[in-house]
Formats: sequence, structure tokens, C-alpha cells
Amino acid sequence: MNPLLSRLQPYPFERLRQLFAGVTPNAAYQPISLGIGEPKHPTPDFIKQALNEAMYAQPSGLAAYPATVGEPRLREACAGWPQRRYGVTLNATTQILPVAGSREALFAFAQTVIDPTHQPVVVCPNPFYQIYEGAALLAGAEPYYAPSDPSRNFAVDWDSVPAATWARTQLLYVCSPGNPTGAVMPLSEWEKLFALSDRHGFVIASDECYSEIYFRDEPPLGGLEAAAKLGRTDYRNLVAFTSLSKRSNVPGMRSGFVAGDAALLKAFSLYRTYHGTALSPVVQAASVAAWNDEAHVVANRAMYREKFAQVTPLLAQVLDVRLPDASFYLWAGIPASFAGSDADFARDLLAQYNVTVLPGSYLARDSHGNGGLGYNPGAGRIRMALVAETAECLEAAQRIVQFVQSRT
Ligand SMILES: Cc1ncc(COP(=O)(O)O)c(C=O)c1O
Repeated sequence: MNPLLSRLQPYPFERLRQLFAGVTPNAAYQPISLGIGEPKHPTPDFIKQALNEAMYAQPSGLAAYPATVGEPRLREACAGWPQRRYGVTLNATTQILPVAGSREALFAFAQTVIDPTHQPVVVCPNPFYQIYEGAALLAGAEPYYAPSDPSRNFAVDWDSVPAATWARTQLLYVCSPGNPTGAVMPLSEWEKLFALSDRHGFVIASDECYSEIYFRDEPPLGGLEAAAKLGRTDYRNLVAFTSLSKRSNVPGMRSGFVAGDAALLKAFSLYRTYHGTALSPVVQAASVAAWNDEAHVVANRAMYREKFAQVTPLLAQVLDVRLPDASFYLWAGIPASFAGSDADFARDLLAQYNVTVLPGSYLARDSHGNGGLGYNPGAGRIRMALVAETAECLEAAQRIVQFVQSRT
């Protein structure tokens, strides 16, 4: 067996299952889950139609192997989107690669860029999307967790990473808009990271799958957009990961793309040839339709805005929470009466009110940075994914208010 497998941590949902084992949820209430960040708004009909039509297309439909790099028309559609959204021009042949959702790509990318013979470090935010850690460990690297700072809108404290750690860093994961914090990285933060990348030679993987669900007037800044604004139009050492899952409500379709540094994408494409993750021709056709349409994205964002506008003030009565910059999560501090135990909060909430939330500490690790070892920046917080319909999210929020009030 690969010995690195034993270094993997149990996934947060597995930990949640263990936490809830033996808990009997109050049957007087219908179950509501805010636990999993899976989009639940309906898939637009035109995407389903495109899938259907592609299945019966002549001459091949499903009767041909797809190429790893995707069809040219898909890469063109992918390149068209960042052009419209960020004003960046990308070469659809050398700077774009379709992927089967950003998750597999975020994982596989570490396997491509890490050189395990040089004591590599992978830096990632804390709390963080768990794939970064697994990808780092299985590539033979040591993860380093840079804590997010609640006093600065959950910006990651990159300054807390020691110079000796940056010197060993081969890969940096950034997540903007962040899961779970919803924080968007401003240009100044990108400038800092580009300078560090130039100094130490590491690659930046920019996870941007929540970029289209935002609550401020201004759309979130993208990594490639930041690079272009700073004159880095070769996107050196930068690859952005984007996805249709949240933008177009197709998490089951498994479709996204990566874009940026042509040399990195060449190596990634080579890796992927062997890894074998080419997108089905049917998925490629539906993805072209999805990337080329913006109306459904605007409508989807409007649904989230309406929902967050109603639910957030209700929860703010009892939790330390406010509207995030973006994403579909609320990242809330629990009241002092729970003595910082986000796991107790989640367990008792399920038992009394049949609502599932994710303990924040499950999404983070003891941080090396501010607060020193032993400080988990997710402790005392919960993550709520407002993915269900507004009425259901409101019902969950009302139960959470009652739950907290019953404890104070
Ligand atoms: C931060 C983040 N990145 C990437 C993904 C992967 O999404 P997908 O593989 O559907 O593109 C998720 C999914 O929840 C996520 O939260």
C-alpha cells in the first residue's frame, strides 16, 4: 500500500457522521441540512437539452473516446468566459484545459507540480477546502496552514508564514471567494503573493469556483485578472481553477476548466493523459452551452442574494455572522454559552431541532500562525450552506434562533 494514504485525515462529513452517531434527531421537525455545500437550485433546462442532444448527435455521440485536452469549441467557449468576465485574453490552445470539475483538478495539479525529493511544502489557507491537504500529502509534501483572521474579514495571514517555510514552498493554494469564509482577496493581497512566488519560485493554484455567487456590487477579482492588472500577462506560475458546478447548478455534470501559465498547463496536460480524466463528449457539448450563457448565472445569483438577505439578519440575532463577500456559506461564531465547542453546538442542534450544520473546527487544522500551535481557527464557528430553497433556509434559521435562545 502507498504509505502516504495513512496520512490522510477523515473527511469532515465522515467526522460529522461519527459525531451524530447515537444522536436521535427530534422527530417533531422535518430534517433540514445546511451541512453540505452542494448546489440545490435547479439545473437550467437548456443545459439538460444540450446534454440530451449531444447524446444523439451524429456521427459519434458517445461512440468515440474524447481527447484529454477537450474539443477546440469547448476550449474556445472556456476562453470566451474569462474574456467577458475579467477582460483577460487567453490562448484557447495553450492556456486553457478542460477538467472534470475543479476538485479532481485541484488534486491532480499537486501531483504534477510537486517535486517530492526537495522537502516540499504546500501552503494553504486555514480553514480550507479539504482537497488541498489530501493533494499535498499524497504528493509527498508537507502542508502548512496559514490562518484566516476574523478581525480582517477573514483575510489569510500570509505574513505569519515564516520565510524558511516560503523558501521550501512549491505550491500555494488560494481560495477566493473562500470556502468557508466567503472572503474575496483584494489586489494588494495578490500583489504580495506574486512577489513571494517570484522570490521563492512556487506555483499558485487559485481556486475560484464560487466567483459568480457574490453579494457586493463589484464582482470578485479573479487571479488571472489580478495578474493582468499587475502586468503579468504571461500568468507565470499561476493557474486558476473554475467550475460550472456552482455557477450553473450542475455539480453532477463534473465540468470546469483551468487557465493560466502555458508551461504549467503543458505539464498538467501530459499528466492528465495518463491520469485519464477526459470529459465525455456529451458533457463537453453541454459545457459549451453553459459557458456561453450568462442569463442563468445572473438569475442564480439573484436567488442567492434574496435568500442571504432574508436569512442573515435572522441568524445575526443570535450568532456572530454577517453577509460574506461571496460564496453560498455563512461562517458564524457561536455564542459564549457553548464554551467554544462547535461540535457540541452541531450535535445538540440536530438532537433538539433536526438541523444539520458543519462544525467549523472540522474544516481547519491547528494553525502554525497567529495564536501558536494548538489554535484551530475554525473552533467556535459553524458553517451553514444556504443551498436549499429560501423557505427551508428561513425555517432552519428560525430553529437555530430558538435553539440558541433556549441555551442562554
Ligand atoms: C472551495 C472549493 N473548491 C472546489 C470545489 C470543487 O467543486 P467542483 O469539483 O464541483 O468544481 C468545491 C466544492 O464544494 C469547493 O468548495
